[in-house]
Amino acid sequence: MLRIVPADMAHIDIIRRLNGLIFDEDRVINTFEREDLLMFLAYQDDEPVGFKIGYRENRFNYYSAKGGVLPAFRRQGIARALLHAMEAAAAQQGYKKLCFDTFPNRDPGMTIMALHEGFRLARADFNSTYRDYRLRFEKGLARE
Ligand SMILES: CC(C)(COP(=O)(O)OP(=O)(O)OC[C@H]1O[C@@H](n2cnc3c(N)ncnc32)[C@H](O)[C@@H]1OP(=O)(O)O)[C@@H](O)C(=O)NCCC(=O)NCCS
Repeated sequence: MLRIVPADMAHIDIIRRLNGLIFDEDRVINTFEREDLLMFLAYQDDEPVGFKIGYRENRFNYYSAKGGVLPAFRRQGIARALLHAMEAAAAQQGYKKLCFDTFPNRDPGMTIMALHEGFRLARADFNSTYRDYRLRFEKGLARE
C-alpha cells in the first residue's frame, strides 16, 4: 500500500539516502533554511521509495525544488501522489501557484507529468551550469 507522509528534519537521513540512489549526488538542496519548507516521503509497504521537497518562492508562488522515485517503483503513480500532496499543502497555506524547473533532456518524465497534470510552460532557457535547456512549469492552485 502507498502512503504519502509529511516529513521533517528527523527524516533527513532517509531523504539523503533516497536522493543518493535517485540522483547519484550527495547534495539534496542547497539549504533547508527555507520559509515554508515542506518535505514529503512516499512509502510503499513501509519502505521509503520517493520524496519531494518544496519551499516559498514568494508570497504567491510555492516552489517544488526536488523530488524523485526509486527506479524499481516508477510508473506506479508515486510521483503524481507526491505532487498532489504538495499541491494540497501549498494551496492550504494560501499559495496561488505551484512552480518548478526541470531539464527535459535529462528527466523527460517530469515534463510529461507536468503537461498531463495541468501545468503550463512559463519559461524556457539555456542553463549554462548544466549546459542544457531548462523549462519552468507553473500551475494555479485551487483552494478547497
Ligand atoms: C520523474 C519521476 C519523479 C516520475 O516518478 P514516477 O513515480 O515514475 O511517476 P508517476 O508514475 O507518478 O507518473 C505520472 C505520470 O507522469 C508521466 N511519466 C512519468 N515518468 C515518465 C516517463 N519516464 N516517460 C513518460 N511519461 C512519464 C506519465 O504521464 C505518468 O502517468 P502514466 O504512468 O499513467 O502514463 C521519476 O522518473 C524520477 O524520479 N526520475 C528521476 C529524477 C527526476 O527526474 N526528478 C525530477 C527532477 S525535476
